Amino acid sequence: MKVVPSILEMQEISRQLRRSGARIGLVPTMGALHDGHLSLVRSAKSQCSHVVTSIFVNPLQFGPNEDFTQYTRTIEADSELLEHEHVEVLFAPPAAEMCRQGAETFVEVPDIGSRLDGASRPGHFRGVTTIVSKLFHIVRPDLSFFGQKDAAQVAVLRRMVQDLNFQVQICVCPTVREPDGLAMSSRNRYLTAQERNSALALSRALQAAEVRSSCTSDAVQLRQVLLEELRRSQGVRIDYAAVVDPNTLEETITVSQGALLAVAAWVGSTRLIDNLLLAPQRIP
Ligand code: PAJ
Repeated sequence: MKVVPSILEMQEISRQLRRSGARIGLVPTMGALHDGHLSLVRSAKSQCSHVVTSIFVNPLQFGPNEDFTQYTRTIEADSELLEHEHVEVLFAPPAAEMCRQGAETFVEVPDIGSRLDGASRPGHFRGVTTIVSKLFHIVRPDLSFFGQKDAAQVAVLRRMVQDLNFQVQICVCPTVREPDGLAMSSRNRYLTAQERNSALALSRALQAAEVRSSCTSDAVQLRQVLLEELRRSQGVRIDYAAVVDPNTLEETITVSQGALLAVAAWVGSTRLIDNLLLAPQRIP
């Protein structure tokens, strides 16, 4: 695996690969890699001739009181994991190169980007879309891989790609979970044993709402189930519980055409998210 810290070098490698007819897959990450990230890498490996994984803890997507400085950085362990997956290139630019001082251009999807996590974390998605645009320009992938775990991020990036005619196919991979249902996340490392247990409320709430969806298509009722389940668990502070259209992230009235159930909650000082896609209901 080639480790590339320089943007210029990454652009040159990409140019050569494209000239040789390679099909480039990009897996953007912030490191602290776990099986969720690796599932994206494996999917990329199966569909592309060359896989570029990026590791960049993006300061633009963290709010002033968020965990940017504490965010886990495990670049050596990450490199080993990626090497083991036979990734061709690890692109790991330094912050000063990726976010040049004096840069004043942003990419923003204002409406979708201000819903769900965008409402709780103002400016977050502007940071994501700006950095992912830069990655797309530098790496010029044919396909780029993202996790369903961050469903709002997927909706925002899809709209960006559509609106700005990026020639990249967005591939979404299923959420990878621990055996007890907890969605894998780099932030799970922050949890104490007790908090880890409380955190199960998120996946439990989604499962309960999914079960209820077999007897109602009323989004209000399903949201109520989400809230009830989350409230049942001590040490969980709800940020949002929502039943939305997966493309626009707007609240829905009915889930008969399919819907995204999405939750976010603070467990101790850690903010966790999870979601579940409901398939369109079959009319009996
Ligand atoms: P990060 O949180 O490191 O996640 C990188 C990718 O891994 C995202 O597409 C995310 O949805 C996916 N992922 C995380 N946990 C997952 C899980 N349990 N199952 C499946 N996929 C999972 O998301 C970001 O970084 C950043 O916002 C980024 C896109 C890199 C831009 O900075």
